[in-house]
Amino acid sequence: MITDEMHWGLGQYAAAEAGRRLILEQHTELRRLLALGLVQTYASSYDRQAGSAVLRALVARIRTTLIQHLRDEEAVLLPLFEQQPGGLRRAQSLRDEHARQRQEIEAMAALSEAGSADALAERFDSLARALFLDIAHEERELTRMEALPRVFEGGRLAAGRRALEESPAGRAASAAG
Ligand SMILES: [Fe+2]
Ligand SMILES: [Fe+2]
Repeated sequence: MITDEMHWGLGQYAAAEAGRRLILEQHTELRRLLALGLVQTYASSYDRQAGSAVLRALVARIRTTLIQHLRDEEAVLLPLFEQQPGGLRRAQSLRDEHARQRQEIEAMAALSEAGSADALAERFDSLARALFLDIAHEERELTRMEALPRVFEGGRLAAGRRALEESPAGRAASAAG
């Protein structure tokens, strides 16, 4: 029987899972765009004009994607961090890091409109490397957070997870997988 408590846990667990999947999909897209941009920073050393035009277009796309990603990540992760023991500090460090990344991407967008091709390529290279590291770090953290339902809210999320696994859809998914 699924109790109210399990319904609560099920809803929270499904929302956390959907949020985690969204973040991972956005990371994949950001990695793809950053890798394309890095190729252009190298290409611009032998075809400066063409490489720079593509890089400028990519910067605009990365800016839009990153800003949306930071917003979504805050919506998903901050409430989860804040429920963990010691999570307030981690939540604050995420906010600080995102504030830095917002400044960086705005500076790069300004450079993309008014700066030299060399300056843009150099800045892109360093921001892309920093973002790759940050994405890898966050994904390790997300993997650890798969264990969170066991510790949240006195096991209510665990109850939700069990209810999901034991539902017809959950049994079908585990039989298929
Ligand atoms: Fe982040
Ligand atoms: Fe991220």
